[in-house]
Amino acid sequence: MIFTVITLISGVGLLFTLSLHYFHGLEVKTEKDSAGFSLKAYFSWLFKSIPGFFKTSWSKRCRDCWKKWIVHPYPKNVRWIFICLFCSFFYLAASGFLFALLFPRRLYGFPLMLHVCAGGVFAVSLALALVLRARSYVFSPEEEKTEKNSSSTRSRIYFWLFIVAGLLLIVTALVMMLPLFSLKVQIDLFEVHRYSALIAVLAAVTFVYFAPNSKGR
Ligand code: HEM
Repeated sequence: MIFTVITLISGVGLLFTLSLHYFHGLEVKTEKDSAGFSLKAYFSWLFKSIPGFFKTSWSKRCRDCWKKWIVHPYPKNVRWIFICLFCSFFYLAASGFLFALLFPRRLYGFPLMLHVCAGGVFAVSLALALVLRARSYVFSPEEEKTEKNSSSTRSRIYFWLFIVAGLLLIVTALVMMLPLFSLKVQIDLFEVHRYSALIAVLAAVTFVYFAPNSKGR
């Protein structure tokens, strides 16, 4: 029950914070000074934007995401790594959170078997993605001083947070499969797995939001 409450509060909290950040960015662009910024203005903008969000065709949205996240940044021979990472993470999060939040019993049967198989794909593609991308997300004080906007610093922070949460997910899943620990430890490992999953999803969403908007990164 606590996991469900924390997941809902952190999920809604993140969406509220990112949409507030986006709205504030819009305000700044229209050179409205901070005095012009009000929560009232924010909520009226939000309620006006939500219908528009569902109007844009999802096929166009998917095409744009495909181009921005797969085609432009990566050569053909490595794109499969990021496709596997995205698809395995998507299924793992969907199957894990659907059972954790909506079903009366824990992940079991065919969805669990697929979850473990997708877990294997996730572990391999995460390792390869780390080898390919880590260099672009290293923290270097010089660069940070010169960097105009802090969004790339934030991207770095959420990139590594995702990597650490992903590693915790892989390790807890593997250790849960070993017949070495007592039931109490198994239950604790399961909780660490679930909360690492929550951190991984929140970090992934925030990383995508702050990702610098550039071609050929
Ligand atoms: C190497 C990768 C992974 C493997 C092998 C794996 C394996 C498992 C297993 C075996 C369970 C069931 C544990 C039990 O009921 O005792 C589980 C539960 C869960 N997994 Fe994963 N997992 C992996 C990655 C992930 C990822 C990336 C996410 C989400 C982002 C995730 C989210 C969840 C959640 C939320 C549950 C709890 C489901 C429930 O409450 O019934 N897992 N995982």
